[in-house]
Amino acid sequence: MAGRVRIGVRAELTDGRLHPVDADGTPIVVGAVGDRLCAAKNRCPHLGFSLTTGPGGRRFADGQITCPWHNSRFDLATGENLDWATGFAGRAMPRWSRGLIALGRKPSPLTTYPVIVEGEDVFVEL
Ligand code: FES
Repeated sequence: MAGRVRIGVRAELTDGRLHPVDADGTPIVVGAVGDRLCAAKNRCPHLGFSLTTGPGGRRFADGQITCPWHNSRFDLATGENLDWATGFAGRAMPRWSRGLIALGRKPSPLTTYPVIVEGEDVFVEL
């Protein structure tokens, strides 16, 4: 579904943590980067797994998400890929093994969405 979808209230989403939310059936991850909220599809572009549930746990610091499966790292505000398939099950792996972990997939960015805050209500534009 395209269009504006309400995903929650500002006070709940600006606590510095990463929040998985459902936007009319689209899995989204939302977090505060500086003083603004940013959102991306909650599917890692490496293999399509959740960015918030996996063996490495939920990892979000300095505006960057680290995938809990193979440690790919992304800038939540821009979606930019910062590191690609550097681990397994959340653990760092030696550099020589990273091509195997990548499974032939090339580095790709997150799909990001505009976030609109109106009063206390937070929306994403899908
Ligand atoms: S599924 Fe995210 S890095 Fe592999």
